[in-house]
Amino acid sequence: MDHFLYRDGQLMAEDVSIAEIAAQVGTPFYVYSSATLLRHFKLFDDALDGIDHLVCFAMKSLSNQAVLKLLGDAGAGMDVVSGGEYLRAKAAGVSGDKIVFSGIGKTRDEMRIALEGGIRQFNVESEPEMEALSEVAVSLGKAAPITVRVNPDVDAKTHAKISTGKKEDKFGIPISRARDVYAMAADLPGLKVIGIDVHIGSQLTELEPFRLAYRKVAELTEQLRSDGHEISRLDLGGGLGIPYARDNNAPPLPIEYGAMIKEEVGHLGCEIEIEPGRLISGNSGILVTKVIYVKSGEGRKFLIVDGAMNDLIRPAMYEAHHDIIPVIEPQAGGEQTQYDIVGPICESGDTFAKGRNMPTLNADELVAFRSAGAYGAVMASEYNSRPLIPEVLVHGDQFAVIRRRPTFEEMINRDSIPEWL
Ligand code: LLP
Repeated sequence: MDHFLYRDGQLMAEDVSIAEIAAQVGTPFYVYSSATLLRHFKLFDDALDGIDHLVCFAMKSLSNQAVLKLLGDAGAGMDVVSGGEYLRAKAAGVSGDKIVFSGIGKTRDEMRIALEGGIRQFNVESEPEMEALSEVAVSLGKAAPITVRVNPDVDAKTHAKISTGKKEDKFGIPISRARDVYAMAADLPGLKVIGIDVHIGSQLTELEPFRLAYRKVAELTEQLRSDGHEISRLDLGGGLGIPYARDNNAPPLPIEYGAMIKEEVGHLGCEIEIEPGRLISGNSGILVTKVIYVKSGEGRKFLIVDGAMNDLIRPAMYEAHHDIIPVIEPQAGGEQTQYDIVGPICESGDTFAKGRNMPTLNADELVAFRSAGAYGAVMASEYNSRPLIPEVLVHGDQFAVIRRRPTFEEMINRDSIPEWL
């Protein structure tokens, strides 16, 4: 359930008309619903009710500070994967003791930033990273709290580009080597082992892969405890998927996911962290674009919109499906046309959908891409010198631009031409 619904023939974001935002902000733009963001966060928080837990929003999915503040104020922690994300979370008012730092390539500078600013834990992914972190922590007179991310070698049954828990993936340490790696961690002076971390992939549509991974983590917890380690926290990662098309089979609900977590690891007495991104932000956002031209090709019609792959790369990168709907509610039984929906960028990959049946549209009409809140704005680029598009946050009947559209000058003036040219 989200808050992008038709009312009186118009697509609304909560109580704000999309057409009105478009008139004020111009197209294309992203718009997010506060109510949907909060609702999805709360679904996870409630699903883990009864056990000590923290829901850390994977801010890589949507990192605008207004969104981080909204979720942070509601009690969310943050999962960050770079110094930039760490500083962004802090700037949005999230305290360090609610920030977990994930990622396979943390640099010493990033470790220093987080240790100085305060951090809940680092999820470390290799022995060399452990050594580096220990050195940095010692140099600052601190001990870095860590979990080790283990790779459980389970098939997440998702798109290959977003699967992370198979042994051939670059993530984590093989679970078979975990006991040795924990022994090494315990010997390093700048580290304090507190738990285990696992994350097997993104857009998972079944519970079973999670269950297999968490079962392995539960076994490992008992082994590590018998080796003398204090394992008091389990970070179970993110990855629960969303239905991108309305008529798709629905993935499991957070409440089912939470119940499974309790079944598999509830008996261990550990504090549980999860790192959902997409399920909180995905259906909380849409991308609004305008039809520039309707072009007739050889046996096909192209709907050329003013948004492009630089604004939303998911269809080009993962063959992802996004529902695309007109902003003016189509009449029941109205005329339909099959379109290839494309952006203006000079490559064929800049295609959002092929042969999509849509209500017939004309130039200047607005269309919305649903489920674009996660991995939309954050993956945007200025390819073809197209300035990053604005982000808007709606709350009830109010809306605010939370990142404005840069001017062409701002974009162009970031380059500098050396004197000797
Ligand atoms: N934790 C870790 C360590 C992760 O690597 C990720 C996502 C998450 C949590 C959050 O996963 P989520 O709940 O959002 O599925 N750009 C791709 C998705 C990449 C996901 C990367 N890691 C897409 O557009 O589908």
